[in-house]
Amino acid sequence: MKQLKERIEDHIVNISDFTATPGKGTTRLTYSPEDLQTRNYIKEKMKEYGLKVREDGFGNIFGKLEGILKDAPSVMVGSHFDSVPNGGAFDGPAGVVAALEVAALFGKNNVTPKYPLEVVALVEEEGSRFGGGLMGSRGMVGLLSDEDFRSLTDKDGITTEEAMVKIGLDPTLVRRRDPKTMKAFLELHIEQGPILEEKKIPIGVVEAIVGLTQLEVTVEGQAGHAGTTPMDRRADALVTAAKIVSQLPGLADEEGERTVVTVGRFNVFPNGANVIPDKVVFSVDIRSGKEANVLNVIEKTKSLISSFNENGIKTCVEELLYIQPKELNQGIRSLLKEKSEELQIPYCSINSGAGHDAMVFSDYTDVGMLFIPSKNGLSHCPEEWSDSKDIAKAVQIFYETAKNLTEAE
Ligand code: GLV
Ligand code: MN
Ligand code: MN
Repeated sequence: MKQLKERIEDHIVNISDFTATPGKGTTRLTYSPEDLQTRNYIKEKMKEYGLKVREDGFGNIFGKLEGILKDAPSVMVGSHFDSVPNGGAFDGPAGVVAALEVAALFGKNNVTPKYPLEVVALVEEEGSRFGGGLMGSRGMVGLLSDEDFRSLTDKDGITTEEAMVKIGLDPTLVRRRDPKTMKAFLELHIEQGPILEEKKIPIGVVEAIVGLTQLEVTVEGQAGHAGTTPMDRRADALVTAAKIVSQLPGLADEEGERTVVTVGRFNVFPNGANVIPDKVVFSVDIRSGKEANVLNVIEKTKSLISSFNENGIKTCVEELLYIQPKELNQGIRSLLKEKSEELQIPYCSINSGAGHDAMVFSDYTDVGMLFIPSKNGLSHCPEEWSDSKDIAKAVQIFYETAKNLTEAE
C-alpha cells in the first residue's frame, strides 16, 4: 500500500480533474456533471475502504464503518466537495480525503470501533449554485425545510430537485438526521489565511468560527434607451447599486474588530451596452467573531439600501443565511491537542474567519476542527495549495482522536 502522503496526493489530484474550468481552477457546482464524477470517486473509495455507502435526499454521502454497538451514534469525519467558481483543489476535498484516510487506517490496522465511524461528504457548502451556503449540513439537521429546499433555484431557474434528478440522485430519500445518531463531528480544512504558514506550524486547532450572514439585494429601476433618455429622467438600477456597494466597506471599518463586508456576486439586467439597467442583484457577505458586530452592520446595510427608495428606484433585501459565531467543543479541542502532543506534531490554537459545516453541527453534536497551512494564505482561487504532508499529520491526529471517541479496541 502506498504511503499515507502519496495516497492523499493521489486523491487530491484525481478529484481536481473533476472541474468545469480545466486550467482555470476548480469549478464544481452542486449536482453538476463534475459533482457526479467526484461523488462516484468518493463512493468508490468508500467501498474500497470497506465502508457501507449511503446517500441522503440532499445528495450528501455517508460511508459507515459499523461498530460493535448496534444502533449507536456515529463519530463523523468529513467536509464538503463542492467549490466556488474558479476555486482551488483543497477547500473541502482536503477534509473529505482526510476522512477517507482515517477510515482506511481503521481498516489497515484492524481496529474495531465500539461506536460507528462515518466518513461524510457534504453538498453545497459554498452556496455557489443555490445561494446561502452550508446547505448539506443545514438540511441534514433540519434547519432547511423541505419546502425551502425545493424552492431554491440556480441562476437559470433550475430547482434543486430537478438538478438532483438530472445526475441520477433521488430527492425522495431520507433527509433529516436525528442528532441522536451523531456522537461527534471532526472536520479538517485548509486555513485559507496566512497565520499557520507565517508561524511555520502545521496544525491549527480551531477554537471558534466567525458569525456570518449572506444578504441578497435587488435594486430595480426603469430600463430605457442609452442614447435618448436624458440623464435627469433615469432610474438607473446599476448607478444606484454602485453607490450602495461603494459605501459598504465604510460600514465594516466603522464597526471595527475585524468585521468584514464583501460583495462578491453582482448581476446586471438586461446587461446590454446600450440599455439603461432596470435590475441589479448582488450578494452582501458580512462576518465578525462577535455577533453584535454582524447584527449592527446588517441593520446599517438595510437602512443604507432603503434610503435609495426614491425617484423610481425600488430596493429589496433578502437574508439567505444567518449563522451565529460558534465556539467548538472544549473536550474535543483538548483531545486534539493531547493527540498532537503525543504524536509530537506542533500545533497552535486558531480562530476561523471562514464558515464551515462544522459550525452547523456544533449545535447538535460535539465538534472539533483542524486547520493546515495554506500557501501564501490564498484560497477561493486556482492558486490555492496545501501540503499533503500536513494533511497526513491531521489524518494521524484525527485517527487517534477518532479511536478515542469511537472507543476502539
Ligand atoms: C466558505 O468558504 C465561506 O467561508 O464562505
Ligand atoms: Mn470555501
Ligand atoms: Mn470550505
